Amino acid sequence: MNYLSTEFSLFGRTFTPLHLLAGLGTITFATTTLTVIRALHIYLHRSKISRYHHPLKTVTKNDSRVGASDQPWGLVTGASSGIGLEIANQLAERGFNVILHGRNEAKLGKIVEGLQKKWPVRAFKMLLLDAALNEIPNFAKTVLDCINGLNLTVVIHNIGGSGEPVGIKVETFEEYDATKVDSWINVNLRFSTQLTRVLLPTLIKNQPALLMFISSGSALIAVPFMSIYSGAKIYLNSFAQVLRAEFKLAGHDIEVQSQMPGTVATETSGRSEKDRGFTMPMADEWVRSMFDKVGYGSPVFSPWFGHRVQAGIFGALPSFVTERLIVSISKKVRKEINGANPATRDT
Ligand SMILES: NC(=O)c1ccc[n+]([C@@H]2O[C@H](COP(=O)([O-])OP(=O)(O)OC[C@H]3O[C@@H](n4cnc5c(N)ncnc54)[C@H](OP(=O)(O)O)[C@@H]3O)[C@@H](O)[C@H]2O)c1
Repeated sequence: MNYLSTEFSLFGRTFTPLHLLAGLGTITFATTTLTVIRALHIYLHRSKISRYHHPLKTVTKNDSRVGASDQPWGLVTGASSGIGLEIANQLAERGFNVILHGRNEAKLGKIVEGLQKKWPVRAFKMLLLDAALNEIPNFAKTVLDCINGLNLTVVIHNIGGSGEPVGIKVETFEEYDATKVDSWINVNLRFSTQLTRVLLPTLIKNQPALLMFISSGSALIAVPFMSIYSGAKIYLNSFAQVLRAEFKLAGHDIEVQSQMPGTVATETSGRSEKDRGFTMPMADEWVRSMFDKVGYGSPVFSPWFGHRVQAGIFGALPSFVTERLIVSISKKVRKEINGANPATRDT
């Protein structure tokens, strides 16, 4: 008996199993195509950052703030190197004056000098605060004094990491002391949260405004030595989504995004031009892809296509395979980094 030609009726019509298979095939094809189109759609998006490039609405003719300050300003945290420095550069390129946050006055001063030479018609300011501290003296006052009278419309929380030089030592959570735990929490989530609290009334006043967080692909994959870091990046993703919903609820025109880089060739990631490739952009390339996605409808995503593909492949693997792979890579990394340093060499 040929089962494929067996007829059955459904909704008053006659079908064979072949009809059923063809129907299932069409549905699978259509949903896969839709998923691929949805995944790729974001990479065709063009930046809407110009929405936030608007003069102060409240400026009047006699207002002492008229001048540089009625032009839009962007604030970038952790702007003295890597991605943050490139964000500052590309904000200036897009017509914004820029406040650069950092902790090292001499280092940041040189950066500002360089940017001022490159973009002579833009204005630049420094905001000096050590984000690792549990209590930052005069935190709110320092921030508010810095932005006083400025038309701040863009805030990009880029700061992240251990705040320590690269390649010294990698540690599991078991090895952290209390100070290290606080420092990771402060740099990776507490500082950005408190800064958002202090800046929010200004963004509301100056809306439409943009509030951006630089998260990480490590929010998606559990990698040893990144316990608090990964947790903090997941926090930033959720924080951004809830703020976005709350702003919609309150009727504020403030766009919130949390964008997730995979590895980007910066000094801190220990990568450089020679490592550049499909899954490892240079900071300027990644930041351009980040600005391109401003105005895109989703709150959390990877703007760099190569990182999206990488995450998709990892996500498609069974979790026990991913886990084994990551643990084995991590063992190698620990041996390389800690082994190179006699003080931290594993036995
Ligand atoms: N690069 C990557 O592969 C990668 C991957 C995923 C996510 N990310 C995320 O992207 C962001 C930027 O990464 P990056 O590679 O560009 O890092 P980076 O080059 O190390 O830059 C970090 C910035 O934060 C500042 N900073 C660190 N600790 C600070 C503190 N206690 N107080 C004030 N400033 C402090 C640094 O200042 P100093 O110059 O004084 O140290 C620097 O300006 C981070 O949020 C990171 O988590 C990066």
